[in-house]
Amino acid sequence: MSAPGRQLEPAVCLLPLRGFLGATYIYAALQKFHDPAFLDPSAPGSFAAQTASFRHTSPIGFALGPAHDHALAFGLLIAFGELAVGLGTVLGLWTRLAAAGGVLLALTFFLTVSWNTDPYYYGSDLGFAFAFLTLGLAGPTRWSMDAWLAAGTVDTSEPEDSRRVVLKRAAATGITSGAALLGAAGAGRLGRSGRSKQSPMAQPRTAVPSATPSESGLQVALAAIPATGAARLTASGGDPVFVARTADGGYKACGGICTHAGCPVGVDQARGLLVCPCHGSTFDPKSGAVINGPAKDPLPSFPVTVADGVLRVRKN
Ligand code: FES
Repeated sequence: MSAPGRQLEPAVCLLPLRGFLGATYIYAALQKFHDPAFLDPSAPGSFAAQTASFRHTSPIGFALGPAHDHALAFGLLIAFGELAVGLGTVLGLWTRLAAAGGVLLALTFFLTVSWNTDPYYYGSDLGFAFAFLTLGLAGPTRWSMDAWLAAGTVDTSEPEDSRRVVLKRAAATGITSGAALLGAAGAGRLGRSGRSKQSPMAQPRTAVPSATPSESGLQVALAAIPATGAARLTASGGDPVFVARTADGGYKACGGICTHAGCPVGVDQARGLLVCPCHGSTFDPKSGAVINGPAKDPLPSFPVTVADGVLRVRKN
């Protein structure tokens, strides 16, 4: 029998995992704080628009009503949660609590954003859930703030010991407060910019016409359909429907729920494309065809009729 190879201690083995998971969750949180569209309910990729879509496509859709109705509070909760999990993971501070939060967030994303990803291993959220589970099972390791804090045992006869423990606790409190301030500053920036600025996808160069629901479906004046890109026919909050002019002078209507994992897509008028904010799939509004994946299937088409300068879309 050959001798077993030299084994590294778990603290070393888990460092790359801690670094990657922590950095990714911090990055994801800062992206949300920095993106003015995330909490803007009128933006296609906003938290409110995504939860509206996931209510139809997720197995926990029945429970998403409060998240949709209080999108600002839940959106901030998700962003702050990611920031706390990321910092706790990188620093090894309250390791098991951070790992439990990571599992909870990743499973929530798996059951909503990634639920319709096929095959399932194309979605990353389930992998994140198991990675956080591994950290939680391992618990605090040697190179962590948990270990550093635990190393201080108070001996009341040794004032030096007491001082050291107090200083460590103060340092941990300072780091936690700093993280909260960082997130609050991001949220403040978001609140300021979100009122005056929309993301490029939510700010098409051609004005998006308003929809007129009718018994036969949706309708829009032909003059309101841009020469390139597409016009959105449904109000924010509902499933989007887009119409575009085709190369042969006709019109095309397609649904705006991404066929990859069910996110509502938006219009990038500059590029003349429909773009999914979740994983970046792009679609041709003139045909609904996929231009770039991960989506594989085209957007659904709806029949249209034109009369008296008005285009009507029949959804069913
Ligand atoms: S939901 Fe994944 S690309 Fe649209």
